[in-house]
Amino acid sequence: MNYLGIKASELNSVAKELNKLLASYNIYYQNLRSFHWHIHGNSFFDLHHLFEQYYNQAKSNIDEIAERILTIGHKPDGSLKTYLQNSSIDEAEDLLQDAEMVNCILQNQTILISSMRDIIKTASSKEDEGTIDLIGGMLSKIEKEAWLLFSWQKKVQSGFLQNLN
Ligand SMILES: [Fe+2]
Repeated sequence: MNYLGIKASELNSVAKELNKLLASYNIYYQNLRSFHWHIHGNSFFDLHHLFEQYYNQAKSNIDEIAERILTIGHKPDGSLKTYLQNSSIDEAEDLLQDAEMVNCILQNQTILISSMRDIIKTASSKEDEGTIDLIGGMLSKIEKEAWLLFSWQKKVQSGFLQNLN
């Protein structure tokens, strides 16, 4: 029985983009964990805790993305090697200063946001409302996370504002 009412083969492009997002999310998750461990100085209490909140959200999203791929009849990638090959996000260095960490995570989030918007467009073309709903929910959350980081760094890095415009 096809419980979705859409053939799995019709959703090849959606599954491929979801697997790419899954790969990027895994690298983003590890970047956050690394920064959680390596943050030091005046921002320690703010950012140590914030990075933990963000990687916990990322962990939940990773599971939801993988299970959505299964739900639409495809196979989620599961190896770190594949994640590193497919990710649009690079592994971060662990010896960054607080403002550099925030900038890195914001850049990572910008990439995830862009990938999510692409997935929503592809899923829309296939009338895959379940994926649109799932990724749309993640999108608004990560946009808010990015806004919080942006607000934190606004005074120390005014150049990023210009990049957004
Ligand atoms: Fe911890």
